[in-house]
Amino acid sequence: MTETDLIERARRVLPAGGFGNFATDIVIARGKGGRIWDESGNEYVDFLLGSGPMLVGHGHPDVLAAVERQLPNGVTFFANNAQGIELAETICDAVACADKLRFVSTGSEAVMYAIRLARAHTGRDKILKFEGGYHGMSESALMSLAPAMLVNFPLAVPDSAGIPASVRDNVLVAPFNDAEVARQLIDAHADELAGVIVEPLQRLLPPQPGFLECLREETERHGIPLIFDEVVTGFRLAYGGAQEFYGVTPDLCTLGKVIGGGFPLAAIVGKDEIMAHFDKARAGADGFTLQIGTLSGNPLASVAGMATMEILRRPGSYDRIQATGRAIMLALEENFARVGIPAQVVGHPANFDVVFIDRPVRTYRDILASDAARLKRFNAILRQHGVLKSKGKFYISLAHDDADVAQTVKAIRSAADEMKSDP
Ligand SMILES: Cc1ncc(COP(=O)(O)O)c(C=O)c1O
Repeated sequence: MTETDLIERARRVLPAGGFGNFATDIVIARGKGGRIWDESGNEYVDFLLGSGPMLVGHGHPDVLAAVERQLPNGVTFFANNAQGIELAETICDAVACADKLRFVSTGSEAVMYAIRLARAHTGRDKILKFEGGYHGMSESALMSLAPAMLVNFPLAVPDSAGIPASVRDNVLVAPFNDAEVARQLIDAHADELAGVIVEPLQRLLPPQPGFLECLREETERHGIPLIFDEVVTGFRLAYGGAQEFYGVTPDLCTLGKVIGGGFPLAAIVGKDEIMAHFDKARAGADGFTLQIGTLSGNPLASVAGMATMEILRRPGSYDRIQATGRAIMLALEENFARVGIPAQVVGHPANFDVVFIDRPVRTYRDILASDAARLKRFNAILRQHGVLKSKGKFYISLAHDDADVAQTVKAIRSAADEMKSDP
């Protein structure tokens, strides 16, 4: 069975020929450490990393050993199990806002429940989010993620067909990194806002100094839950996530990706008085927020997550991830400057990309104004040189080694050279 055959088979059974996630002209056969191989045997330095979960690399021996130990004892029970309880304890110890935790299977679910909790807690309906912020696939989250048509704030634009018009009335949208606009909107809508949800590092965009602090201050002043979506940043920017890295503690936080070690597992964590809505005995019939999931807290994902976190706690893990990232960020900056292509390197060393534009980027609208065709070409050249990344992100792992960095830097140099003579 060749890769071409598989691509053809996928076209027959999968809408648009794929899982909805990534380019459909490649089929991945296996991964090890910081590398993956396609079904044709081509080898790539892997910066896609399963879209983030594989922070310690593919097939880490300690993660494999934990999974192999668990496999014969059962993979899912629906009921409490020691592995899930231990993972919950570990996460609550690591994450500042986490008094309590509920497991789900995906980041999208975690966000859906975090928003529902905020609504249950306040008795209000509206959510404030930021333009360009990604919060998964629930109806409230799929607003103004990637609007092609720019409308005035705080109007929300649905990103998908099939979302009832009424959902839009309950979402307000603000520009990321504009503390003043956020402050005004929170003030003006305080008595109807159930929550404010933000990616503390929005896609690639770091928060400007004072932005997260302003959200914290304003929401606290009005008793509005602040939700950090840390599905990407959790255990990635630092062991305690973006809330540790930026020193701002939200009321609720969603986690996914890294905490399941590559298995489907995500979580809602937060302050005890809000998480209490999941407990009928404390919330009462009116305040109770129903939450059930077949695979929640399954022991297989839990042991993979625990093993991943144990590796991340070892001295030097985060320094190493960030040193790798910084070397690649520097190569991007130097090479595009060398050939005179306007480019900004945006993000955090664990998670960043190049944006082809001649001015600093702070908002979704800045990214929208950048040269997307040039980025597409850059990604294609990297792939020809055996470096695989997503459309708009390098995810760095602890497993990327000096050879991976050297190959990537060489590929970036070649890409800059080739792109210099593009029309
Ligand atoms: C910030 C953020 N929130 C939520 C999600 C949704 O997570 P999942 O794909 O597990 O549903 C993602 C996925 O990439 C994400 O990046």
